[in-house]
Amino acid sequence: MACEGRLQGKVALVTGGSRGIGRAIVQRLASEGATVYFTYRQARESAERVAMEAPEALFPVQADVRDAEAMAGVVQRIQEEQGRLDILVNNAGIARDNLLLRMKDEEWNEVLEVNLFSVFRLTRQVLPIMLRQRSGSIINISSIIGLMGNAGQANYATAKAGLIGFTKALAREVGSRNIRVNAVAPGFIETDMTAGLPDDVRTAFRQQIALRRLGKPEEVASVVAFLASDDASYITGQVLVVCGGYLIA
Ligand SMILES: NC(=O)c1ccc[n+]([C@@H]2O[C@H](COP(=O)([O-])OP(=O)(O)OC[C@H]3O[C@@H](n4cnc5c(N)ncnc54)[C@H](OP(=O)(O)O)[C@@H]3O)[C@@H](O)[C@H]2O)c1
Repeated sequence: MACEGRLQGKVALVTGGSRGIGRAIVQRLASEGATVYFTYRQARESAERVAMEAPEALFPVQADVRDAEAMAGVVQRIQEEQGRLDILVNNAGIARDNLLLRMKDEEWNEVLEVNLFSVFRLTRQVLPIMLRQRSGSIINISSIIGLMGNAGQANYATAKAGLIGFTKALAREVGSRNIRVNAVAPGFIETDMTAGLPDDVRTAFRQQIALRRLGKPEEVASVVAFLASDDASYITGQVLVVCGGYLIA
C-alpha cells in the first residue's frame, strides 16, 4: 500500500517510465504525492495513458537517454517549471543477450550506452540542482545479474555491475551535501523484458526463487519510493536486492 503524502512537494525524474518497472515507479511516486516527469524512447501511446491517470502530476517526455542534448532539455524544463528536482530514478534499460563469442560490437555498445553511460551523463546534468538544494535522492536500477553474472549477458552484467560501482562512488562524493545515492537490484520481474523467456526457463527460475514466483513491477516500485523518501534518510551507497530470495548472500 502506498504511503500517501510521503513525497508531497517533491519533484522526480524517472527514465523509461512508459512500461514495466519504470511505469510502476512513476505511478507509485505520484500516488505518494510527487510531481513526476518521465521519459520514454518510442512508446508514446503507453506513456500518454500513464500520464492520463494524474494529468496534474505526471509529465511524459519523449527523449532517448542516449541523446545528451535532449536529456539536458528535460532537466532544464523541470528546473524552469518546478524550480527543483528531488528524486532521480535511472531506470531505462535494455538487454541484447548473446554468448560472448557471438556478441557483436553493436550489442555490447548499445547496452553499455543505454544502461551505464547515459546514467553517468544524466546524473551529471542533475547534480548541480541537487547540490544547490543541498538535498536529493538518486536511485539507480541495477540487477541481480550485475551481482552474480549470467551466461549470455556479459554486456548487461557489465553495465549493471558498473552501476553499482557508480552508486557507491557517488554516494561518497555527495553525501556531505545531503544527497543520497542507492541502487536497487531486481531479480526476475514480470515485464516485457522477461516476457520472451521460454516456459521451461521460467519454471526452472521459479524453482530457484525462495518465494517460488517472479516479482511484480509494483514490488520494485515500493522499494524505490522508500529510498526516495525521508524514511530512508540514513541510507546511502547501498544496493537493495529485490528478488524474492533468488540471491541470498
Ligand atoms: N524485468 C526484469 O526482470 C528486470 C530485472 C532486473 C533489472 N531490470 C532493470 O529494470 C529496468 C526496467 O526494466 P523493465 O523490465 O521494466 O524493461 P521494459 O519493460 O523493457 O521497459 C523499458 C523502459 O525503458 C525505456 N527505454 C529503453 N531504452 C531507452 C532509451 N534509449 N531511452 C529512453 N528510454 C528507454 C522504454 O521506453 P519505450 O517504452 O519507449 O521503449 C521503457 O519505458 C531496466 O534498467 C532493467 O535492466 C529489469
